[in-house]
Amino acid sequence: MPLKQQRLTINIDHVATIRQARRGDEPNPVDAVPICEGAGANGITAHLREDRRHVQDADIRQLKERITTYFNFELACTDEIVAFACEMKPEQATLVPERREEITTEGGLDVFSDPARISESVARLQGAGIRVSLFIDPDLRAVEQSKELGATAVELHTGTYALHPADPSNITALRSAALRGAEMGMKVHVGHGLNVRNVGLVAAIPQVEELNIGHSVISRAVFVGLDQAVREIRAAIDAAGSKRE
Ligand code: PXP
Repeated sequence: MPLKQQRLTINIDHVATIRQARRGDEPNPVDAVPICEGAGANGITAHLREDRRHVQDADIRQLKERITTYFNFELACTDEIVAFACEMKPEQATLVPERREEITTEGGLDVFSDPARISESVARLQGAGIRVSLFIDPDLRAVEQSKELGATAVELHTGTYALHPADPSNITALRSAALRGAEMGMKVHVGHGLNVRNVGLVAAIPQVEELNIGHSVISRAVFVGLDQAVREIRAAIDAAGSKRE
């Protein structure tokens, strides 16, 4: 029997990136919400970075009001942003690594070098009623450690697979990590670098329940509009996901 439809959450950071290019008020990332939701997204993701390079605090407040599906708030383990997330109470918080000089989130969270800091953030967020996912590399030890740290879900970093989709070791690593995550009782999400061409193999992994996709959708939207861009990635996911067993 085919599994139920996977959740697609659209990351709207890059709508804010365009706005911040002029530090003005358009395009407003909050206006992307009803379009994405109307085109088949099951959730909206936004990353409030410490340097506020795209999404701003006021966006998060408005997103919280405007999202009718569910809100996946991405954040680093810093006191200030964890406190803000606890106040905002999104349905889900995804903890990500953050380096100021990076162009985008490069690599998964280091779950080994300072586990106390991560588990404390997980506990604070969960104490506020927020489900917590950890963005990690598709590595079995990292999956197991995430469970130790109290995560409800892991988001497996698909960036290496997206860069080298023809290298079978990359999809194999994602499959093994997804299986291990589910065996350990966690939800399995994926994200980074996914597009209509490479999403199929990942969406076909039986344990994958949620896919977080941003850059390729916003890029495509420049030419065909956001509604159409979301519909295209939704169709690519559903075509592969419906064949899972
Ligand atoms: N998941 C996480 C944790 C991310 O940090 C990002 C990028 O902000 C994404 C998914 C989306 O990646 P992309 O924009 O490449 O689709």
